[in-house]
Amino acid sequence: MPDLSQRHTFGIASRCRVLHEFCSVQQLLDLYPRETPCYIMGEGSNTIFTEDYDGQVLVNKIAGVEVCHEPGGVSLRVGAGENWHTLVAYTVEQGWGGLENLALIPGSVGAAPIQNIGAYGLEAGERIREVEVVDVATGRQFSLTQSECRFGYRDSIFKRAEAQSWVVTYVHFWLAEDIAPVTAYAELAALDNPTPVDIFNKVIDVRQQKLPDPAVLGNAGSFFKNPTITTTQYNELKKTHPAIPGFVVSDQQVKVPAAWFIDRAGFKGQCKDGVCCYHRQPLVLVNQHHATGQALLAMARAIQHKVVQLFSVTLSPEVRLLGKQGRVEL
Ligand code: FAD
Ligand code: EPU
Repeated sequence: MPDLSQRHTFGIASRCRVLHEFCSVQQLLDLYPRETPCYIMGEGSNTIFTEDYDGQVLVNKIAGVEVCHEPGGVSLRVGAGENWHTLVAYTVEQGWGGLENLALIPGSVGAAPIQNIGAYGLEAGERIREVEVVDVATGRQFSLTQSECRFGYRDSIFKRAEAQSWVVTYVHFWLAEDIAPVTAYAELAALDNPTPVDIFNKVIDVRQQKLPDPAVLGNAGSFFKNPTITTTQYNELKKTHPAIPGFVVSDQQVKVPAAWFIDRAGFKGQCKDGVCCYHRQPLVLVNQHHATGQALLAMARAIQHKVVQLFSVTLSPEVRLLGKQGRVEL
């Protein structure tokens, strides 16, 4: 049984029935599905195998970067199996701005549109022009425009039921020459007239200070999404917690950092059975020492439970949790 521990960055010891890498659409269609259940993945930085997976794992390795200079900017068509950070570094080296805020996010290019990766004031969906997809259930190949992808906060059409058998094969980006630097985020606001290289370096610096390197300490980045609550609930919480941070999403909604709730609930730096709530960023759970899936789920459920109890706010996982037969919920 193939070993999965090096295939997902949280690193829980686990195996699957069969594993194949595919380098082309044809190879994918030939392989799919020899076994069920079947899981399509990239680099496993948002996937946690909590136990042995009794199915087939298909790993996207479709490579290639095609560049086209067009009036007003550069368009790129990138194989879904390319590494995300390598792509960002390449564009910045070429002098093309637009992706620099998303430096050092682990994972593959093909996974970027799935949860619409975002950091430091930018989401990948803002630079994606088109996504090429194959529906492995029918073999049909088609493209979605940016608006058809229905990008939202850690969300897209690719998370909906209708997209269950879609595999992203290529992603097209549009990097306009006149893109303004995105510096609204506190950590970037202090930069004076920054170039894409300046932002790229600063983002790497900030990320390395806050987030554990998965090559050193197993983790999957933010375990939970930042919850959006009603303005009424936010104002109620503010009465008892005047320092509660919040970002206005609309007239009726405020997004509150999950890290703040987890920190106030007392989990920051806590460890149990090899799983820790990271001491510098409590939204990240880490595999401190031979963590099992059970220990991870227990820690995540304890956090969820306490946050509901204290604040009446439900935290939803950002990561994809997999059990023996497929997806598991908290
Ligand atoms: P995987 O974990 O392999 O897959 C993730 C999901 O996408 C799964 O549901 C999988 O089935 C699906 N999928 C993967 N490839 C395809 C495909 N080709 N077609 C269809 N479905 C596919 N995320 C952020 O948004 N912002 C951050 O700042 C950030 N920081 C992180 C920091 C650390 C240290 C870590 C470990 C993770 C971080 N993440 C962040 C999460 C992660 O990097 C992203 O979700 C990334 O896009 C996952 O890429 P992957 O290839 O590893 O995906
Ligand atoms: N906070 C605390 N205690 C802490 C740390 C943070 O209370 O120990 C509170 C503070 O109020 C702080 C706030 O949380 O201002 C936000 O913290 P941070 O700037 O570190 O960002 P985040 O909201 O926790 C999000 C993303 C990250 C992304 C960063 C930067 C989500 C779920 N997470 O984290 O994405 O890198 O912003 O833009 O939206 C990921 O998705 O895996 C990920 C790492």
